[in-house]
Amino acid sequence: MWPLRRPTPAPPHKWEGRSANFPRVRPEIKTPLPGPKAAELIARDAKAMSPSFTRAYPFVMERGRGCWVTDVDGNQFLDFTAGIAVVTTGHSHPAVVAAIKEQADHFLHMSGTDFYYSSEIELAERLEARILPGTPARVFFTNSGAEAIEGAMKLARYATGRPSYIAFIGAFHGRTFGALSLTASKASQRRRFAPLLSSVFHAPFPTASRGVTTDQSIERIEELFATVAPPESVAAVFVEPIQGEGGYLVPPDDFLPRLRELTSRHGILLVADEVQSGMGRTGHLLAVEHWGVEPDIVCLAKGIASGLPLGAFIARAEPTRGRLDGERRARGRAAAGWAARDRLESQGRDRRARPWPDACARVQDS
Ligand SMILES: Cc1ncc(COP(=O)(O)O)c(C=O)c1O
Repeated sequence: MWPLRRPTPAPPHKWEGRSANFPRVRPEIKTPLPGPKAAELIARDAKAMSPSFTRAYPFVMERGRGCWVTDVDGNQFLDFTAGIAVVTTGHSHPAVVAAIKEQADHFLHMSGTDFYYSSEIELAERLEARILPGTPARVFFTNSGAEAIEGAMKLARYATGRPSYIAFIGAFHGRTFGALSLTASKASQRRRFAPLLSSVFHAPFPTASRGVTTDQSIERIEELFATVAPPESVAAVFVEPIQGEGGYLVPPDDFLPRLRELTSRHGILLVADEVQSGMGRTGHLLAVEHWGVEPDIVCLAKGIASGLPLGAFIARAEPTRGRLDGERRARGRAAAGWAARDRLESQGRDRRARPWPDACARVQDS
């Protein structure tokens, strides 16, 4: 239950640009929903955009600040989605916007596959130190979460020389072919896209709310080892420490430590998909930190740059020794990543979870 009492009043608002355009807002519905401008745009969208996008709600964004969003008809909403876990610092946080503007003034792109960017190096150093502390690690930047998963899949094969992967029922890892092969969240995401990768096997994800225990999940993996996926053929186990798309499922406390032990015993890499659960969403920078588990590879995206498309996978130095195919990168996103990390650290959001209303107020008022 959310607290019924109002949270302690937030300190005075310090956002730049808040004023006539964006006064201290409360939810305010001025038109029937969708409003006339939104309805017109949604009709045009239906003719121009791929039907693959299945929108959850007829909201047409006009602008956002902190945890408040306004639609094209002037209706104001409290945003509980944060761009589906992307805008970790709230919409258009001034520090993030300033970093983007400053970078745009310098340059936008030079090609990180062929040349060097100082901000990219700095962000990689910072991620490496924080994500896998005490372990020499390497960072590979990507454009999205799915691309980070694809990269981790390739790295796991390259580093181990093994062909197969294990993932979990209910998992969502993305929609590109490799990531989709791991994804087992909804049949609609796979329908008519087969054949996917043949060397992916699934085990049940343990969680009390679905009546699946850690023992059942581990026993299923061991059954896979004994029948269709001998452990020496398995490159990596991909796991969301807390499943997102699958239903916001938290595993029992012994699950991730036992999975870590099982994978280590068989020389299998443990890949934590923290695309949705990471970047401070659960009160630690990474969700795996709740269970003291150290993965071999961590995949990040979404909240890493608070709105700009940036992903990354961070791997122990050992498995990254091989060559990886390069991908396009833009320096501005690294700058935004820096700014987003600064905000998360200064707000202490990677150290403790706050009750929702307080967290919202703090993000809006910072
Ligand atoms: C856990 C997880 N992994 C991967 C992805 C794919 O990320 P992207 O949409 O940036 O490709 C998502 C997206 O929702 C996700 O929730």
